[in-house]
Amino acid sequence: MKGIVLAGGLGTRLRPLTSVTNKHLLPVYDRPMIYYPIQTLVNAGITDIMIVTGGNSAGDFLKLLGNGKAFGLKHLNYTYQEGEGGIAEALSLVEHFAAKDSVCVVLGDNIIEGNIAAAVESYRAQGKGAKIILKQVPDPERFGVPELRGASVLRIEEKPAEPKSEYAVIGIYMYDGEVFDIIRTLKPSGRGELEITDVNNAYITRAEMTWEELTGWWTDAGTFESLLHASNLVAQTGANKMDLPQSAEASAV
Ligand code: G1P
Repeated sequence: MKGIVLAGGLGTRLRPLTSVTNKHLLPVYDRPMIYYPIQTLVNAGITDIMIVTGGNSAGDFLKLLGNGKAFGLKHLNYTYQEGEGGIAEALSLVEHFAAKDSVCVVLGDNIIEGNIAAAVESYRAQGKGAKIILKQVPDPERFGVPELRGASVLRIEEKPAEPKSEYAVIGIYMYDGEVFDIIRTLKPSGRGELEITDVNNAYITRAEMTWEELTGWWTDAGTFESLLHASNLVAQTGANKMDLPQSAEASAV
């Protein structure tokens, strides 16, 4: 399984912090934001990693991360996203790197308290299709929101005005090699982007989507409020702990 960190985009919601640098290089407490998603993958035993960047300061990722020594890695792979085509477009750029293998995709501004090792293990056992990770949140309208019926996820809506559950689809996704064919079928959304939610709905339609509930806190860091919140959470409790037990709750469509 390959690991992908998506760290492109212009970070417009964080201007002027992102006027001259990339969002994922901003500090979250004592580390640059991108350290957290890389650590999430490494803690799950995924060490073959590609970083997709773009926008401002793309070259600074190489200066900061090099070959990934800070994470015990011998090598890191990089690719460059031109423009602002959305999460699914960024993902399409790693097709050659995935080379038909499955991928674990982490959005560069998503930070977790615990680890996803058990979810990755259960995805490996699943053998094909996709897996998403859910977390109960007070403000689901900010995220992709699943409609759940019992153990099944029926559909995901992107930033719905009237959320059908109290869960967010967090920015950690597992896909098989089919994901690139799915992305080729997508049309840009209202905000002009290829949406990761449309990829997930395609797997739901194929009845090949499973989900797990995350144990421990999760936050994104793409707005002033969530960036401050992320720093406070990391300062108070730490992130990427290895010993936080994962919820046993998991389910299939
Ligand atoms: C993206 C996804 C959304 C997901 C969120 C997690 O939103 O589109 O489905 O819940 O990441 O951080 P964005 O932050 O790009 O608006």
